[in-house]
Amino acid sequence: MVASLRLICASNELVDAGPGCRFNIARYGRDVPAFAIRFKGQVFGYLNECGHVPAQLDWQPGAFFDDSKLYLICSIHGALYAPETGRCLSGRCQGKGLKPLKLCEIESKVFLEQESNDGYTSIPPK
Ligand code: FES
Repeated sequence: MVASLRLICASNELVDAGPGCRFNIARYGRDVPAFAIRFKGQVFGYLNECGHVPAQLDWQPGAFFDDSKLYLICSIHGALYAPETGRCLSGRCQGKGLKPLKLCEIESKVFLEQESNDGYTSIPPK
């Protein structure tokens, strides 16, 4: 059951395999970084936390894709993730994928779907 929708960004801010949109969510009382990207026309969201160690992936704010624009890459040791699932494909993530978030697009806007019992709660945009 969807308890609420939180606006993340305008749809046109997410270019296919281009820069992502960073935002924060509260998870079990902790403020954690997250991001949204577009890949093959669809939007996807993940916690911005590598499966290797809890470091943020982007080497510059919003730079999540590798040079091929086919994979998400961790800037620290180069682990590669599938943009559409967050699954670890190679590198030090050793099978530990990204934690996905539920995003949707409505009327040219991207929203985070916040469920009442998943530990994710809204933080006002900064
Ligand atoms: S911190 Fe991401 S691969 Fe090591």
